[in-house]
Amino acid sequence: MNKGKGNIQWWKNAVVYQIYPRSFKDSNGDGIGDIKGIISKLDYLQDLGINVIWICPVYKSPNVDNGYDISDYHDIQSDFGTFNDMTTLISSAHEHGIRIVMDMVINHTSDQHPWFLEAKKSKDNPKHDYYLWVDPPADGSLPNNWQSHFSGPAWKYEESCGQYYMHIFSSGQPDLNWENEEVRREVKDILRFWLDKGIDGFRLDTINFISKVPGYPSVPGAKGLVRGSQFYMNGPKVHDYLQEIYRDVFSRYDIMTVGETPNVTPETAKQYVSEDRGELNMLFQFEHVNIDQGKINKWDIKPWSIKDLKSILSKWQSSLGEEGWNSIYLSNHDQARSVSRFGNDDRYLKESAKMLCTMDMTLRGTPYVYQGEELGMTNVKFPDISYYRDVQSINLYNELKANGVSDHDIMEKIYYRGRDNARTPMQWDASENAGFTSGTPWIDVNPNYTSINTEAEKNDPDSVLNYYKAMIAFRKAHPVIVDGSFKEYFPDSDRIFAYVRENDSEMLFVILNFSATKFALQIPEEIDMENAEVAMSNTGRTSFEGRVLDLRPYEAVVFLKRK
Ligand code: GLC
Ligand code: CA
Repeated sequence: MNKGKGNIQWWKNAVVYQIYPRSFKDSNGDGIGDIKGIISKLDYLQDLGINVIWICPVYKSPNVDNGYDISDYHDIQSDFGTFNDMTTLISSAHEHGIRIVMDMVINHTSDQHPWFLEAKKSKDNPKHDYYLWVDPPADGSLPNNWQSHFSGPAWKYEESCGQYYMHIFSSGQPDLNWENEEVRREVKDILRFWLDKGIDGFRLDTINFISKVPGYPSVPGAKGLVRGSQFYMNGPKVHDYLQEIYRDVFSRYDIMTVGETPNVTPETAKQYVSEDRGELNMLFQFEHVNIDQGKINKWDIKPWSIKDLKSILSKWQSSLGEEGWNSIYLSNHDQARSVSRFGNDDRYLKESAKMLCTMDMTLRGTPYVYQGEELGMTNVKFPDISYYRDVQSINLYNELKANGVSDHDIMEKIYYRGRDNARTPMQWDASENAGFTSGTPWIDVNPNYTSINTEAEKNDPDSVLNYYKAMIAFRKAHPVIVDGSFKEYFPDSDRIFAYVRENDSEMLFVILNFSATKFALQIPEEIDMENAEVAMSNTGRTSFEGRVLDLRPYEAVVFLKRK
């Protein structure tokens, strides 16, 4: 495959499409999406114009956390198909001009992984030191006050060896001990195994959690359990470990790597992605998706503003411009749907979904489209907790319920923020179960599938889907989006996000109305609009004269000037 234009690495020119396999397409009627289902939709993805698929974990797993708890890194879980299916997916994708990036979960394994089954047997088992163990404190308390991301303590007592093990996520996801050289050797073997199968890179799950502060100190001054992020995110040896992996594995292949890294700032991000340091190509930073998160944890919801969102995005645009590289994303399998969150999924669904698409495809960095985002898929509100499947939401429900919180208040949190918003099945057509499965889906479809689906949108020139196609094609046709500078205008506006992208041959002026009201925008004198044409528009605007632009609700316009 072509390595990309000029000296620019191929992954900078790429548009990535994220697949949550369980919810993408079921090929055999068992209600669970699978690899054969993905293969059957490669034509669709090629036609959309994307060049890379990031596929969430498909390895063997007891599915406590839908595949993010791996029990065998070398095999495929039977729900999803066989090892052969995976090999076929890799080669068929390549034939479609699409690269495959696999999700790799190496901060923790499943508690059913053979390493853990051995490790827990006794303190002197050879695998014991693969995980993080602590003797029970004499006073009967927990080893520290860290809270798991999935509720409750980050520790579970194991009868058989008489110690607690650390699990930052569910108790079915024990954290690996990266201090142990054997563990790092095993991890490197696993990475090589898949790279040698011909995949094109990795999305590295919670990769900045792999080094813990020794002694696992409690968060000082806290009441009850709290996130101890400062003691296990961006820990003391994280860069040593990543440089070792880069040196021994990644640097030997032509691949892309993207690390999932909550709690990074542009400054700390550079330590991971600066090209001269050799660790990772890109990160998923969380600042913009945590914009509505209070101090306690993700369920602590606070108000946010467009102005704050813009300032976060611009900050990352400017700071990872020349040094490092951004990932551009608004949603994924852990977040609410982007149009429900940052747009308007009611009256202006189409307009706002297209506006957000315009932004994603014109910012500097590699854009990620999460399955269904290209249709304008929205959040869902199922009647009660029994419809939900996500371990995080279910644990939250049980915890708050036990504390006397009302169903109504718990469900409001889950409606707003729950991960199942993004995990309802992909909406292919208006037939029963949205054409996702001929059986009973593992989680219900969003009832709005009758109007929001690929079949209906394919034939509608005005659809969100066709706009995505056009915007992806536009991005590919204009290298300025990849290599041009970024300059923001009107940073104080709480409605309009406007920026110029520029290189020696082209200038793009992008204007996005993030509000449901009209707005008369005075174009700054400094921007040379002579011979600028309307290159993209989500309202059908084709021309413009003068210097006052009357923006409609959620309007997005891209002006193009060739030099
Ligand atoms: C990442 C994944 C999420 C998973 C967690 C634990 O945040 O994206 O889905 O639950 O890691 O592996
Ligand atoms: Ca299936």
